[in-house]
Amino acid sequence: MEARAWWDARAADYDATDDAARMWRHTATNVVCQRSEVRATDRVVDLGCGTGNVARTLAPHVERVIAVDCSPNMLRRAQEGPDLDITWVEGDLRTVAIPRGTHVVTACFALNELSDRDRLALFERVHDKLVDGGLLVIADWYWNVPFEDTEGIEGWFAPDRVVSVSGMQVMRELEERGYRAVHEPLHPAVSVLTAMRM
Ligand SMILES: C[S@@+](CC[C@H](N)C(=O)[O-])C[C@H]1O[C@@H](n2cnc3c(N)ncnc32)[C@H](O)[C@@H]1O
Repeated sequence: MEARAWWDARAADYDATDDAARMWRHTATNVVCQRSEVRATDRVVDLGCGTGNVARTLAPHVERVIAVDCSPNMLRRAQEGPDLDITWVEGDLRTVAIPRGTHVVTACFALNELSDRDRLALFERVHDKLVDGGLLVIADWYWNVPFEDTEGIEGWFAPDRVVSVSGMQVMRELEERGYRAVHEPLHPAVSVLTAMRM
């Protein structure tokens, strides 16, 4: 899988904080953890967990965290920190099993590489597995202004690998699939979406 090789090669310096893109990513993942509003009895799934920033932040506050990623190198980095009760799963977001009765699903900067079709199918699959009132909380690169107004950030990722949609469009997609969604544009190219299963 293309994503696996790409992210395997980036695992070593993924958590550096030496450029704007990384700083925005850290900010957005912190917002996702807050919006998740987790409780001690919650079961959480973190999709595209990378080096485990979200999974590690939430794990001490919930019953169980399953963290999924396709990159063995990212997962290896994720497991280097202090031992926490997290189930690390090497898998593809397009097919990985999400347990029925999950309370919160998080996905930070992990869905932008899925095709439109795969993203929409995932929204439906998550909806089917979440408890009523459960949350899907997403942060990603979503264009909130015309691309030409976002000078300087187009080099943050390889555009040919990334599906670009607007945060508002993703909010509509979620609402059409049975969520009540809130869109927070944090930056011209970064959104957080908090979607409650209705
Ligand atoms: C930008 S990183 C985000 C990591 C983490 N969520 C964070 O915010 O720090 C994207 C992650 O998604 C994973 N990923 C991308 N496509 C994937 C797929 N189809 N299945 C599983 N993981 C995928 C990559 O391996 C990578 O670790």
